[in-house]
Amino acid sequence: MRTPFIAGNWKMHKTVGEAVSLAEALAPRVDGLAGVEVAVAPPFTALAATGKALAGSAVRLAAQTMHEAAQGAYTGEVSTAMLRDVGCTYVILGHSERRQLFGETDQGVGRKARAALAAGLAPIVCVGETLAEREAGETLAVVERQTRAAVTGLPADAWGTVVLAYEPVWAIGTGRVATTAQAQEVHAHLRAVLTAVGGEAAAGATRILYGGSVKPDNVRDLMAQPDVDGALVGGASLDAETFASIARFRV
Ligand code: PGA
Repeated sequence: MRTPFIAGNWKMHKTVGEAVSLAEALAPRVDGLAGVEVAVAPPFTALAATGKALAGSAVRLAAQTMHEAAQGAYTGEVSTAMLRDVGCTYVILGHSERRQLFGETDQGVGRKARAALAAGLAPIVCVGETLAEREAGETLAVVERQTRAAVTGLPADAWGTVVLAYEPVWAIGTGRVATTAQAQEVHAHLRAVLTAVGGEAAAGATRILYGGSVKPDNVRDLMAQPDVDGALVGGASLDAETFASIARFRV
């Protein structure tokens, strides 16, 4: 009932030409894969060209962040209409790098999620604890707080559209992946939080991705966990064959 979802977050990598090459190499490797949805999130400057390169492909386009206002005097920001205009289906929100380096708050991420949905974009809301929070035993409380702020008050038809991504901060870009048990524990808790907020059907329809050092050799075990519905992939999404082999986790 929840289609597995593999999304690549290119972060601040790839010029327009590099992004187009990567998209052109990726599409034939993943198009036709049954039962998995694939998306890539290039930097803003490469969204339009990547979207064109992916025309006719099943690979979806995602942005890495957005501003919640429809338009206006927000120098440096990009609106939902601008993202829709270049063909985005998804937008990553509240990535830990945005929270840690750019001051994004739980409430701000919630506002963005509601604005994205209202504009017809599907938010991929990232949550996750730092190493200090994990060591202090605060993991479940932290991800619950972040999740509640993002999904409380969502319209009923948002469930199944909004995507959650659990990304332990200590696992991002470190090569240190969460164990399958650590991932499943948090994902099951998030599912329970979604049930408490939106009810059982809502929680059952909502995909929860794992992110943090996902690679071709660990994706299968992660995807075998009952509450892991996909992966948000950073470093390993920058190479077409590596990312494609993650998307082929079933094969
Ligand atoms: P990583 O990044 O796969 O390079 O650890 C994941 C992410 O930040 O989304």
